[in-house]
This record gives sequence, structure tokens and C-alpha cells, in this order.
Amino acid sequence: MKVLVVGKGGREHAIITALHESSSETEIFSYPGSDAIFSIAKPVDVDGSIGSLIDFVKANEIDLCVAGEESYLVKDEGLANACEAAGIPCWGPPKEAAQLEASKEFAKEFMMRHSIPTGGYASVNSVEEARAAIDGKYPTVLKFDGLAAGKGVAVCLDKASAEEFLDEVLGQRKFGEGRLLVEEFLEGPEISIFASVVDDEYQILAPARDYKRIYDADEGPNTGGMGAVSSVEMFEGDLRQVIDETIVRPTVDGLQRDGLPYRGFLYFGLMLTEQGPKVIEYNCRFGDPEAEAVLPMVTGDFAHHVFEGAKGNLDSDCINFASGWSICLVSASAGYPASSRSGDVISGLDAVENARVFHAGTKQNAAGQFETAGGRVLVVVANGATREEAVVNVYRESDKVTFDGLQRRTDIGTRNF
Ligand code: AMP
Ligand code: GLY
Repeated sequence: MKVLVVGKGGREHAIITALHESSSETEIFSYPGSDAIFSIAKPVDVDGSIGSLIDFVKANEIDLCVAGEESYLVKDEGLANACEAAGIPCWGPPKEAAQLEASKEFAKEFMMRHSIPTGGYASVNSVEEARAAIDGKYPTVLKFDGLAAGKGVAVCLDKASAEEFLDEVLGQRKFGEGRLLVEEFLEGPEISIFASVVDDEYQILAPARDYKRIYDADEGPNTGGMGAVSSVEMFEGDLRQVIDETIVRPTVDGLQRDGLPYRGFLYFGLMLTEQGPKVIEYNCRFGDPEAEAVLPMVTGDFAHHVFEGAKGNLDSDCINFASGWSICLVSASAGYPASSRSGDVISGLDAVENARVFHAGTKQNAAGQFETAGGRVLVVVANGATREEAVVNVYRESDKVTFDGLQRRTDIGTRNF
């Protein structure tokens, strides 16, 4: 089967690796891809518009498109919409359903309509309305409902930090026009749940937990993610069943009822509160860096699972998950997350054993060495029979890989357990 995977980061490197290692024979193409990805996938020479991707897909008789990254789902006419019109199976939902991720207000209204547990909220458009909605209750959670490059969410512990965020977003309009959600603050451990959704059916995959802050002990600014842990053992007691019954099934049924066809990965960011699991957010794609921890544990024919799913057939027996624990650890470049530094040569990649390296932001220089080319540079993934063993393995292997300015947390897999 000929597959086009859209995206370029560590998640796409992990997805392409899982497709490549599947027992189904694949020929993989990647746009925009990366030098590391191009060791197992072929580059695609297009301008990146949905139209240009579809022209490529038709001209090269591609059997399947996979959306690694969300942006292509809502760009132009939408990747899945354009694939549908061209009669090509796509793993990733149409633009209309992808609003679950693209618009926080759309997602909240969807959850309210279908009685899916989530925090209470108000949607406001001015500083005065926001103050009235906060009503002196702290902590409060403020979310800009638009594109904000990951900087649109603030968990404000007090009035001063809330006022500062309100001024930036609604006063100075730092992110442009758009409404703001004032959300109830939810407490508890977070968990990322993934499902392969095929119309009215779904399969829940291995859960994960990511680490969003740059520094140890969950301090410092938010990042795209500094590491993740995955194991089916994270479904303690009846947690899997509760999440399935109260959140996943109602979400899939809600999509059906609203006339929103969905085929692809659906990501549920949940808070395990004392009142039960509640949805923080939906994403219409796999998590990053969660994909780098989860996908190496897949057993079975992943390519077949995705291809059949995109055609409307969910084959739940086709993939499963290895027992034990998988941990991925991100190495970031100097200055991240405020900025990033390119051109630092990476050493030690060849020394890594019994672990995988997924490249998030690297490029190959003229001498053939990989160097930094982004904030999150690379992700080392290792497994273990226990979480403790996986921690030891991932740190031992990560320590072999170095570059100037490297930033790496030392508590991935230990904190929050
Ligand atoms: P989001 O971009 O919506 O995923 O939010 C980023 C992070 O902010 C989440 O992973 C949580 O750690 C935190 N967060 C978001 N919403 C809430 C909430 N309602 N209560 C507490 N923390 C939240
Ligand atoms: N790990 C968080 C995300 O993929 O959005």
C-alpha cells in the first residue's frame, strides 16, 4: 500500500516507523517530512496546499493519507474533505469534525449537548465580561479560542496573573480577534486517552501521561511536551470502563448524532477529578510526545489497522499493546520554549541501544551529521517491565546523546505517579 503521512515532527516519525514496521507492505511518502523521516519515507515535492497534496496523491496512486498533524485537517478545504472528494481513504476527520480541536467553544458546546463531563465555562469577549465570569474565584483557567501557538491557555492562581493574561489577550489582542473561555479549574492527575474512531465504532488504545512544563517538578513555562509515559497498567481498577462509558462512547455517539463523520485518532485530554474523569480538551490526531511512547508498544499490523479504518472497517483484533511501560524523553535546544537554537551538532546517536530515537527538530548538515533545527530536537524512547525499569533505560540511553545547550528533564516517568 502507498501511504502519504502529513507532518514533520517526532509524532510523524513515530507514526511512519510504525507503518514501516507493519507486516503489511508499505511504500511511505512524507510531507513536509524531515531528513530523519526520509530514511524510511520518500519526500514529496508540492507547495503544501491541500490542492497540491491531492494532485500528488492522484498522480502517484496513493492508497491512504494519514494526518499526523492537525493543521492540514482544517486548512483550505480540509485534507479529509479533499480526500473524500477524490475517493482516497484518509485517516483523520473532515474539517467540520476537526472543530473539536480547532475551536474550544465548539468543543465545549459539543460536550454540553451530549452530557460529556467537563469543567463549567463562560465564553466572553471583553475584560469586563471575563472579570464577571471569574467572579473572584481562583485558580481560574483562561483559554483564547483561536490560534495562539500553544500560548493561549493560562491557569491563573490569582487575580494579578489573570489580569495580566486578560490584558494581553482581550486588551492588547496579542493573538488577534477571538473569544475567550473562562473555565472551571479542575484538579487531579491528567491522563491522555487515544481512540481509533471509525464512524460509530472505536478502539481505545494504550493511555499515556505527558509532561508539559520545561523544568523538573512541573515548573517553568508550558512546552509542546518534554516527555511521556505509557502503559495499559495506567488503566487502574475500572478506570478504562468509566472513561469508555462516560466519555468515549458518548463522544463517538455525539459525533454520529451531530452528523459529523469521523475516521482517525481521537485524543481525549482528561483530568481524573474526585468526581470522575472530565474532558479538558479534544485533539483530532495523536498526541505529541505521547505517540512516541505509545506507538512502539503496538503489536500487530498497524498499517492494516489504519488503512482498513480509513475505509470504514474497524478491525479491533488487528492491533494490541505490549505489556510493561514505555517512556519517551525529549531533548530540547537552548532557549526553548521561548526560542530555540539551530545548528548544534548532535553526538552519540549511534551509541543508543535497545531504545528508539525519533527526530522532532533536526536536520542533516553537509557532512551528514544531524544538528538541532527546532525547539524540541529529539525523543528517546525505551521500555521496561516496570515503570522504574523503563525510567532507568530511557535515561541511560538518552545520556549518550548530547549537543550544546541541551535541555532535558530529569523526572520524566517518576513525577506524578
Ligand atoms: P489545553 O491547551 O486546553 O490542553 O491546556 C493546557 C494545559 O492546561 C492542560 O494540559 C492542563 O494541564 C491545564 N488545564 C487546561 N484546562 C484546565 C482546567 N480546566 N483546569 C485545570 N487545568 C487545566
Ligand atoms: N501532548 C499534548 C498534545 O499533543 O497536544
